[in-house]
Amino acid sequence: MERPLQPLLEISGLHTGFDTYDGRVRAVDGVDLAVHAGRTLCVVGESGCGKSVTARSILRLVEDAGSIDAGAITWHGDANDGTGEPFDILSLDPRGKRLQRLRGGDIGMIFQEPAASLLPLRTIGAQLVETLRIHTGLDKKAARARAVELLDAVGIPDPKRRIDAYPFQLSGGMCQRAMIAIALCANPSLLIADEPTTALDVTTQARILDLIRSLQAEHHMAVMFITHDLGVVAELADEVAVMYLGRVVERAPVDELFADPKHPYTKALLASVPVLGRDRGRDLPTIPGAVPSPLHRPSGCSFHPRCAAAVAGRCDTDAPPEVDFGGGRTAECVLYETEGAST
Ligand SMILES: Nc1ncnc2c1ncn2[C@@H]1O[C@H](COP(=O)(O)OP(=O)(O)OP(=O)(O)O)[C@@H](O)[C@H]1O
Ligand SMILES: [Mg+2]
Repeated sequence: MERPLQPLLEISGLHTGFDTYDGRVRAVDGVDLAVHAGRTLCVVGESGCGKSVTARSILRLVEDAGSIDAGAITWHGDANDGTGEPFDILSLDPRGKRLQRLRGGDIGMIFQEPAASLLPLRTIGAQLVETLRIHTGLDKKAARARAVELLDAVGIPDPKRRIDAYPFQLSGGMCQRAMIAIALCANPSLLIADEPTTALDVTTQARILDLIRSLQAEHHMAVMFITHDLGVVAELADEVAVMYLGRVVERAPVDELFADPKHPYTKALLASVPVLGRDRGRDLPTIPGAVPSPLHRPSGCSFHPRCAAAVAGRCDTDAPPEVDFGGGRTAECVLYETEGAST
């Protein structure tokens, strides 16, 4: 029987920014999202739309360079397993134990740049064993045995030997797999995976996706998966959030998004992907122009300068309405303002 949808993590009104010499960059500008226990949310959108900053904000990993200015990130995990109440991650003590337990314990994260998250002067094994011991209470010997198993599961050949390698002794793809092992080692309730398979060959990519899926089935793990690859979205997602310039412009269950995209940006993204058999030898349309810098955010709807359906005098001046179609579908677009409920 299907379990009812329970929110595990809810993000509302998130604003994250950075001070630069040219001014304040509003990288995340009012994001609302929810990830449900046991389900997969895919987050898509062109480069620079704020996907990684959203992900890093969840674990409060932006606060060296930037700051979270507004919003709430509610963790329901303790309420779901009966050990506590929901709480706002943003109100936790940044140096406190609860945030430490969330990072790598309740929430595993695979970063976009593996080099940035593995410690260069410690072996893969030491980093894995330490994470296992902090979060699972295994003793040293058991943690090392489990570490070898995990390295094997993510497709690292000869894991008994490789466990004692330093990151610089491994290829980028191997480092990425080691990082995936670290993110998964404590059986997190939520896995945040930021383009985890981009540096990997197709076979390894398929293997990692299988591993994520089997852990999900075994432990009812939720996944927030950030990717450019709409093929992966079709394969993995339950729900999809489409981001543009720091906002979620459309949310939908995956089948509905592919069958009936609402936002002109989503339509353009889908149209730029080849369909086997249909698009052979055909030039695919690309979205005109590029994502503007968040320093020079267009007025009105920030997609309007690139939008084929933009309404002059409206989209260039007014913020678009957020239309709620029900059933988890929303779109921020004036085209639908007479449909559904606008908020
Ligand atoms: N440390 C920082 N200082 C200043 N600006 C930043 C910083 N980190 C991110 N940004 C800006 O925030 C915006 C969102 O960046 P983010 O990395 O979240 O994009 P993304 O959607 O993950 O893109 P990609 O698909 O390329 O990974 C970009 O304009 C980026 O330049
Ligand atoms: Mg990114």
